[in-house]
Amino acid sequence: FQSSAAAPAALTSPTASMSQDDLKQMAAYKAVELVESNMVLGLGTGSTAYHALERIGELLRCGKLTNIIGIPTSKKTEAHALSLGIPLTSLALNPIIDLSIDGADEVDPHLNLVKGRGGSLLREKMIEGASKKFVVIVDDSKLVDRIGASKLAVPIEVIPFGWEYTLNRVKSLFDDSCTAKLRTKPPKNGIVEETAEFLPFETDNSNFIVDLYFEEGIYRDLNHLSDELLRITGVVEHGMFLGLATSLVVAGKNGITVKHK
Ligand code: 5RP
Repeated sequence: FQSSAAAPAALTSPTASMSQDDLKQMAAYKAVELVESNMVLGLGTGSTAYHALERIGELLRCGKLTNIIGIPTSKKTEAHALSLGIPLTSLALNPIIDLSIDGADEVDPHLNLVKGRGGSLLREKMIEGASKKFVVIVDDSKLVDRIGASKLAVPIEVIPFGWEYTLNRVKSLFDDSCTAKLRTKPPKNGIVEETAEFLPFETDNSNFIVDLYFEEGIYRDLNHLSDELLRITGVVEHGMFLGLATSLVVAGKNGITVKHK
């Protein structure tokens, strides 16, 4: 990684023509400013974390960062990090992580998150929970007043054995304002065939995902709900990340805001 070449300049000032992906990149690059040489990093998963990895790779290649070692939150991120030459380690060898940077599906005003629409919530929660600092990077479409409010999924990782039973036990915690469904693999080329085989989505840990859909968001104590979900045998982990994030970087068309807890 020794080179005197300068890293390409980061996007810093938003313009009206910026795409959502440009905003994700801006948030990611801003968060990477917190990375210092000799750090153990948690490497997030998803289209926003993708940009953070790219930037870390660039800074390593031009020698502005040295002696970084990363722990990937998914197999996809592991492959991406290796392709960029980012050295990797494991939680076993490095149980204390200096800084994790990752995206989120929803962020509420208390920095509670929904994560896992990409299916990596278990490794993400383990790695981000082992981090001294966990910086969340989002474009402003991810901000919500209460989690579950975007009408998109709040995911739960469940073991395949008896998943129907686990799904029913999860359902029994909610009234009709919540629907729970097993996540399936997206149809090939977006075409659903009548005869298509039913294929559950499988996580990196060979588990399944049950997605919860709320009409209006979650109107109950989140920590209590977390306990109730985790008490169901068969539930491995859920995608509500409560009290884990230490900072938030949000990029919108009017600029970047950084919030520390
Ligand atoms: C994957 C995640 C992602 O961080 C989350 O889905 C956000 O993804 P993106 O940055 O692509 O919007 O939790 O399990």
